[in-house]
Order: sequence, then structure tokens, then C-alpha cells
Amino acid sequence: MTSRLPAQNRALQLESIEAGFQIKKLPTPQPGLGNAIIRIEAAGILSYHREIYNGDRHYSFPIPIVGGYSAIGRIAALGPDATSLKEGQLVYVDCVIRARDDPDSLFLSAIHDSSADGTKKLMRDVWRDGTFAEFARFPLENCIPLDEARLCGSLGYSTQDLAYIGYLIVSFGGLRDIKLEPGETIVVTPATGGFGGAGVQVAIAMGARVIAMGRDEKKLAKLKEYVLSGSPNAQIETMKTTGDEAEDLATLQAFGIIDAVLDFTPPQGSKSSHLRSATSALRRNGRVSLMGFAEQPVVPWTFVSNNITIKGKLMYEREDMIQFVKMLERGLFPKGKAFVDTKSFPLEDWKAGLDTAAEHTGIGKHVVFTP
Ligand SMILES: NC(=O)c1ccc[n+]([C@@H]2O[C@H](COP(=O)([O-])OP(=O)(O)OC[C@H]3O[C@@H](n4cnc5c(N)ncnc54)[C@H](OP(=O)(O)O)[C@@H]3O)[C@@H](O)[C@H]2O)c1
Repeated sequence: MTSRLPAQNRALQLESIEAGFQIKKLPTPQPGLGNAIIRIEAAGILSYHREIYNGDRHYSFPIPIVGGYSAIGRIAALGPDATSLKEGQLVYVDCVIRARDDPDSLFLSAIHDSSADGTKKLMRDVWRDGTFAEFARFPLENCIPLDEARLCGSLGYSTQDLAYIGYLIVSFGGLRDIKLEPGETIVVTPATGGFGGAGVQVAIAMGARVIAMGRDEKKLAKLKEYVLSGSPNAQIETMKTTGDEAEDLATLQAFGIIDAVLDFTPPQGSKSSHLRSATSALRRNGRVSLMGFAEQPVVPWTFVSNNITIKGKLMYEREDMIQFVKMLERGLFPKGKAFVDTKSFPLEDWKAGLDTAAEHTGIGKHVVFTP
């Protein structure tokens, strides 16, 4: 099994923050108990990967490290305890790695060690390197099988486009956590970013009516046009925020009953009042999924009188991934090229890849490395 793996493989490795990435020939990871070696076909790049690896975002991870996030790849070799995965199979490679003796303890591969002793040890000593490489080693349970014939055949997705799952699945984790139901109305805010836009797409696929909130009218108009071009029957409204909490609340109330809110406010949006307006507009027993990292999300007093449930959510659970892949395979998302506009870069063009990922954001936009 291992003999078919090359002795070395090319990887994008960070030896120090100051030196930046370098293409290295590293020993190809080998299979063992509990893991799979995956030939990476498309590795997702985050809009803020550049800030993670140039030190602006002060994320904690061991160095040297091969960068990465979630990816699409093909099983190249399997540990002896694999029972259902097969060599050659197309899989979604999940970047959320959990401690096997404490599944509540998790970290994000090649991104953040979660700052706890156990996860720091796991990332440093066992699962250090990420997907910006020809081959990567991941836990067996992080390889989610994909029906290649269905997804790349009748639904018309490329393997690069499938890496967009890494964006969509995050919002699905939050939406499932607050039990979004078909027919409900949800506010996604801000909706013009990468994860917010993905949240709009997923909520539509789940059968909800979406109010996409944001501060940029032109981006909102494009978002609506994009959604309707791929899903002509989607129920989508847009709302430009004014910065005036009461005015924005009144505008939202005019849309009728609002059941839920999905929040992806980044730290730089912490002072904006949009989240207060959105959550104040909720019906009695409404639900909020907080997924952004607004520094001080202020809870309005109406949370108490309206029985509002507020839940923080980091990423998603394994069951969410299985369920999400079923939705994708059933054809609930736009088909073919209407799914996502993917820009691809070889590892050698890593600077252009990271720069493009910072710009090419928003609904249906995604950037990958194709190692
Ligand atoms: N919980 C999780 O598991 C999880 C997973 C992934 C990411 N996240 C978090 O999700 C957040 C969004 O990430 P992203 O990649 O989607 O970011 P992004 O693509 O850069 O989008 C940022 C969004 O925030 C809006 N925004 C920026 N500054 C603002 C301000 N001052 N006031 C109001 N809105 C503002 C932007 O609006 P414009 O379009 O008008 O600029 C845009 O809609 C980040 O905090 C990230 O860490 C959480």
C-alpha cells in the first residue's frame, strides 16, 4: 500500500512568520492506525489565511507547519483499521480534528491549536501539517466520502468547486444547531462576506426565506441576483443597514415574522448595531446562531421577554457533514457552474492564491490551491 506513495511530496511550508511560505520537498506522510493519506486535489483558501500566516491574526500553531484548511482529495493509502473507505475514493477532508479520548476537545488543522494543552499536543506531535501539499495525513473520520459519479457527473461539479463545501458546511453547522425549519424566515448578517454569503445559500437550500443584511447596497443587489440566477424560486430579500438601530429594526419588522438570525460579524464589525437590530426583530421563541467573532455582541433586553435562544457555534459536528453531503448529492444547491466561481492556483503561486482569496470573497466565490 505504502509503496505506491512517492518518497517525497511538494508542500507549502511555513518555517517562520518572517520568512513566509516556501515550497519544500518533504517526506510523504505514511499511513498508520487510524489515519488516511489523501492525494489533495483542491485545498480551500480562506479570505483571512494571509493574515493567519503573516502573523496579523496572532493565531496559535506550531512551526514549521504545512498550511491548509479543508480540502477535496482522493484516498491514496489507508491505515489497517479502515473498514469502509477505499483507495481512489473522492473525499471531503475536514479540517476539524477532535481528540479521540475527548471529542469535545478540537482544533482546526493548520490554523489554530485551540490553546488547550491537549489540542496543542495533538497538533504539535500528531496532526501538524495541513492540506497545502500533494499528500496529507488525516484521521479516518475526517474523510467524508463523496458520490463522485453523482456530484461530478449529473450535477456537473468539478473537484475544485466541491472544495466550496468548506464554506457552506460552516453555516450549515450553525443553522442546524438552531434547528432552522423549511418555510421559516431567517436574517443572515452580515450577508456580503464569504461565510455570510454561504449562509444565505445554505438557508435557501434548507427551504427558508432569507433576509440578507449588509452595509453595501451594490453587493446586496449582486447577492440577490446571484441567488435568483441559481435558484429562481428562492425567497430572498435584502436590507441595507443604516447604522441607526431603531430605523433598521423598523425596516426588519416590515418583513413580517422573523424566526431566526445567523450572525457572521467579524471583529472589525463589533461596534456596528446591525446584530442588535436583527436580534431585536425576532419573534417570541426566536433563535440566534452566533458564528462571527464580534468582540462584544450586546444582548438586547428583549431577549428575556421574548424567550430568545442564543447559541454560539464553532464549525459543525460530524453528523452535520454527513447530512450536508446528502443535501448536495440530492441536488438542493445550484447545479454546474452556477454553484460557485472558483479560482485555482498551483502551490508555486501561493502569494497570488492568498491575495486572491482575500479579494474574491462573498456568495459563490472561492479560491483553492491545486497541489
Ligand atoms: N464560528 C465559526 O466556526 C467560524 C468559521 C469561519 C469563520 N468564522 C468567522 O466569521 C467571520 C466572517 O468571516 P468571513 O471570512 O466571512 O469574512 P469576510 O469574507 O471578510 O466578510 C466580512 C463581512 O463583515 C462585514 N463587515 C466588515 N466590517 C464591518 C463593519 N465595520 N460593520 C459591519 N459589517 C462589517 C463585511 O461587509 P462588506 O462586504 O460591506 O465589507 C462582510 O460582509 C469572521 O469573524 C470569522 O472568524 C467563524
